Amino acid sequence: MCGIVGFIGKEQASPVVLRALTKLEYRGYDSAGVASISDSKILLKKDVGKIAEVQGKYALDGLPGTIAIGHVRWATHGKVTVANAHPHMDCDGKIAVVHNGIIENYQELRHQLEGDHKFVSDTDTEIVCHLIETYMRMGNSLEQAVIAAIQQLVGSYALAVISVDEPNKIVAVRKSSPLVIGIGDGEYFVASDALSFLDKTNQVIFMEDDEVAVIAGDGVDIYNKKGKHVNRKPTKIEWEWDQASKNGHDYFMLKEIIEGPEAIQNAATQDKKHVMDVAMTILRAEQVVITACGSSRYAALIGRYLFSQLAGKFCDVVMASEFQYFASSIDKHTVVIAVSQSGETADVMEGVKMARDKGAKIISIVNVPGSSLARIAHKALYLNCGPEICVAATKSFIAQLVIFYLLSFAMMNKLDQGTKQLKGLSVGVNGSFDENSQKLMVLADKLHEQGNFYYIARGINFAMASEGALKLKELSYIHAEGMPAGELKHGTIALIEEGTPVVAICPNDETYHETVSNAIETKARGAFIIGVSDRDNEVYDAWIKVPEVEDIFYPLSVVLPLQLLAYYLAVRLGKDPDKPRNLAKSVTVK
Ligand code: AGP
Repeated sequence: MCGIVGFIGKEQASPVVLRALTKLEYRGYDSAGVASISDSKILLKKDVGKIAEVQGKYALDGLPGTIAIGHVRWATHGKVTVANAHPHMDCDGKIAVVHNGIIENYQELRHQLEGDHKFVSDTDTEIVCHLIETYMRMGNSLEQAVIAAIQQLVGSYALAVISVDEPNKIVAVRKSSPLVIGIGDGEYFVASDALSFLDKTNQVIFMEDDEVAVIAGDGVDIYNKKGKHVNRKPTKIEWEWDQASKNGHDYFMLKEIIEGPEAIQNAATQDKKHVMDVAMTILRAEQVVITACGSSRYAALIGRYLFSQLAGKFCDVVMASEFQYFASSIDKHTVVIAVSQSGETADVMEGVKMARDKGAKIISIVNVPGSSLARIAHKALYLNCGPEICVAATKSFIAQLVIFYLLSFAMMNKLDQGTKQLKGLSVGVNGSFDENSQKLMVLADKLHEQGNFYYIARGINFAMASEGALKLKELSYIHAEGMPAGELKHGTIALIEEGTPVVAICPNDETYHETVSNAIETKARGAFIIGVSDRDNEVYDAWIKVPEVEDIFYPLSVVLPLQLLAYYLAVRLGKDPDKPRNLAKSVTVK
């Protein structure tokens, strides 16, 4: 949800900011802009469209000066227009601001400011420029003005601010939106995600809520909201930017799908003592709740089956955006497991903060090192799958499953055995990649004009049906529903018509016969059945053969074709699978 960047150094800043923005484009791609300071002026270029389009029109990297800020937008307040694109400026064009988040009280503030200030956009961000302008006009320094301005803001924000009156500093501040400072050699970054500047430095300072950073050409000073200096040492991020390149593939998505087996290996490589410790915390808890959104929630639903089937530990999964409504049931005897690739999802963070305040123990399962969720949790387990750039979760979903397997095996005191089985599995899961790719491409060609897909499965694989449907919806914009196969006849079967594709996930386990029966019921109404299974059946119109594995591991066996089907349909329809419309990878607004 919007990405912000700031850079100050010795070289021209705009090309550096542009490069960094390109790596943040997964956060938003409605519009883009850069502002720099040169000759006591703010120079600004911005427009609607993806970065490459805006760069093509305006040469964002041509802006002079050694200090600049930039933004990629995922629109919240105000339509996708040039005026609403960031950076925004004050009345005199002396202050420029980029923002990620939502200022909830912006309407009241706008009414207060409108008499003295000229507004040119519909955004909540513009009020921040005018508030800072107000306080600077009173004689405050830029940082004093920013501190005064944020006292009036309600909502979430990561802000980077520059002013021609103090041209050698960027002032940055955060509340409930991510912000990281990069410490280079005589050069400094501030960004929504460290990934954006990892090619330059891996020394980072994670800002905490309500902290204000003054980033100058010769160092960084951090203050709390009372203006007191805070000492914070940089930490090192182990990720490499190279891990986030397309590696010769057309799209990040395909590359990240192919990295699935490696993701299993890496996620299964954990500190044994730490996994045991986390597993025992879960096992001993009176109540366990898992919270997450989207694909992470589907991984959690599979985790719930694993905890129950392998370790006899019952738990509930609550959608993060709904978690706050269960607050009265959370107490110090509760363990909350929060699952998130980004570790920044606002809904998850809000639920976790609520649970923490109520005394619950927080365990996080995250990918991004140093993310807000990893830092707020009492115990964190990392996915170790490297940067995931495509908006759709693929390898991170697989890694999340692996963590749930590890925890379940650890609860049974069989962690070594589980780790070995998982690592062994990683060799085979992509085994039929080429053959399945061919078949799925043909299917995508045949089915790309269908308006509705249904995904069915039972037991531990039910969530795989939902995950397959989510992948299809977000990438190809085809309506899809995933559901327990037995539930179909309670209403949804009414939607099955001649030719409606039904993806039946029916591995050769205890669910096979019943799922096949449910597929037959849809076939009787004209459905086109795509069987995702290790066992053939005459009901299938197309059979996507998956590796035969031990029953509990089938989610890892069926995941590849589900991801590939969505990918090939999106490509067949001419959509960009890496940047689906209306979406962003890191959903940092509620
Ligand atoms: C998955 O393909 C989606 N893009 C989305 O549902 C995602 O899983 C969800 O927004 C949660 O993100 P997180 O794992 O970073 O918290």
